[in-house]
Amino acid sequence: MDDRRVALSLDLASEPRRVLFATAEYAPVVKVGGLSEASSGLVSCLRSMGLDVEVVMPDYGLVTLDDVEESTLEDLPAWAGPVNVRRGWSSTAGLLTLIDFDGSDRPHPYVNPETGEGWPDNVERFALFSAAVAQLAAIGNHEIVHCNDWHTAPAIGLLPEGTASVLTVHNLAHQGEASPDYAERLGLHGQAFLEGGAYNALAGGLSLADSVVMVSESYAAESISVSGGFGLHERLEARGSNLTGIRNGIDLGLWHPNEDPLLPATFDHLDLAGKEVCRKELLYLADLPETKGPVIGLVARLVHQKGVDLALELAPFLDKMGARLVLIGSGSPEIARHAAQTAARYPDVVHAFDEYDERLAHVVVGGSDLLLVPSRFEPCGLTQMQAMTCGTIPVVTDVGGLRDTVTDTDLRPRSGTGYVAAEASAMAMLDAVHRAVRGWSNPRRRASIQRRGMTADWSWAEPALRYESIYDDICG
Ligand code: GLC
Repeated sequence: MDDRRVALSLDLASEPRRVLFATAEYAPVVKVGGLSEASSGLVSCLRSMGLDVEVVMPDYGLVTLDDVEESTLEDLPAWAGPVNVRRGWSSTAGLLTLIDFDGSDRPHPYVNPETGEGWPDNVERFALFSAAVAQLAAIGNHEIVHCNDWHTAPAIGLLPEGTASVLTVHNLAHQGEASPDYAERLGLHGQAFLEGGAYNALAGGLSLADSVVMVSESYAAESISVSGGFGLHERLEARGSNLTGIRNGIDLGLWHPNEDPLLPATFDHLDLAGKEVCRKELLYLADLPETKGPVIGLVARLVHQKGVDLALELAPFLDKMGARLVLIGSGSPEIARHAAQTAARYPDVVHAFDEYDERLAHVVVGGSDLLLVPSRFEPCGLTQMQAMTCGTIPVVTDVGGLRDTVTDTDLRPRSGTGYVAAEASAMAMLDAVHRAVRGWSNPRRRASIQRRGMTADWSWAEPALRYESIYDDICG
């Protein structure tokens, strides 16, 4: 190679990769579930590695931006019409691109907060957003479009030739289905977006993306099974080595007990005195009496997946173990009612905060002794990692990312980091909680389980490197 070509290739090598990262949620500005935290955690880490990542999200009217640049996307498919783009700085989320389209402006991304029902035009709204994402990629010359879940999957069918694509699946249970004529109307690659006779936004993305990433290795394995694939297992299996599992990390800038401004006291694995202060504060806020047994926390969206009902079934047995249960989350009014009724029936044992609040969530995770994650399925799960960082011992079901992040201490006394229930049932949870209470009550055992969880690396560093190598592969 002559000198000029060497210089040119060095130059190209030093150009940061240009990625357009499309998501329906981004923490802390638009946060419904783990998608928001996974998105912002991964993007911050990729940016710190030098990649040029532009984040694009619908303009729900919920985010304030400074130094805004406005433009209009004209060249959208006829059904989408022109949309407006606002690009600017959010004081908490950094540089964001927001797309304002017909139907984007809503008080909640997915549901009517007054009824708890999904917006009836969700499939259309996110198809429109996806069309705008594809157009942005065309104008911005991004090398890669990184989509997340069904909301942005249609973009993959509309990308300009030569743009590489990654689809991360945070939850296969939501697919964005509608009547079959939808695919045609959207001008989306014929068959790919049809599944079982219906339009299916996620299905199309799964077939067309250059790389599909499930948010943990075990979830990737589950996804190609009949029971775990939510009807898409064959499609997923057909992707062969283009389907991988990369476990999410957590944002240690937000989740580290040594410097967490939302906790009443800080602590680390060498000195857990501050954790005792957090525990006291938690009992005080939950209006529960002191106990010699463990305080068990549960932080979850109130949806069937999370198995909150299984945890509530434990209430009659907790007092005998000296344990307390503190639950925080929002979502289904029915599950919230069930939680409130259980708390009213066992007022000295169970407390349910009925609103999700970031500070309270940190106090529950940091101040609890054990953290329950009784999920029926769990693509990755973040709270168990947040808990371990805070010396809170997780008690989880044996599914998806929970299996990949928590090692049962009774099975592996030297490497155990928590307790794993054999199945998602109240009986199995009760057994695991029993074992956890016993283990926790032994100070030496407790300390070694806590130390292992607190010193493990739950950051995004490793997972982000794996994403970067996928980017490198698909860009050839
Ligand atoms: C979804 C999944 C959860 C995952 C999160 C982030 O909320 O249910 O398991 O941790 O997305 O990927």
